[in-house]
Amino acid sequence: MTRLLFVCLGNICRSPTAEAVMRAKLAAAGLRHVEVDSAGTQGYHVGEAPDERSQRHAARRGYALGALRARQLVAEDFERFDRVLVMDAANLAEAARRCPPQRRDRLALLLDFAPQQPLREVPDPYAGGPAGFEQVLDLVELACDGLLAQLKGASAAS
Ligand code: 4NP
Repeated sequence: MTRLLFVCLGNICRSPTAEAVMRAKLAAAGLRHVEVDSAGTQGYHVGEAPDERSQRHAARRGYALGALRARQLVAEDFERFDRVLVMDAANLAEAARRCPPQRRDRLALLLDFAPQQPLREVPDPYAGGPAGFEQVLDLVELACDGLLAQLKGASAAS
């Protein structure tokens, strides 16, 4: 079993989007040995469903976010998850600060898996307009394709 954790600030916009997109891509590819979850570095929205704007934009592309609930990143996540994929540099720094040194190699920026486009961070859409939510979906879909290709390669090799 491979376990992936997507991390953003509040766990109501970017990381639940990534969780739902990756889960859909794994199901479509028939990869059943990969578990997916998401968390926020901060606890402002713990227990809440994803932001309604994220839900609405994702639903238009066929991703259902409504059943997800926000939670905060905990120390145990660095033991449980093989990869902790973070949306931006500030949250990567925060996650790294809380991560035991021997687990830091599990941490990466999500967009490391989408090197064909110029951004390194998934911009926070929370305070902006609809285009930001579309951009999150575009970037997350590209990166999840990259991640999926790597996971397929790894399962073919083993
Ligand atoms: P997320 O977006 O990190 O993608 O879930 C945000 C959610 C909430 C806040 C900021 C960003 N906030 O300030 O409450």
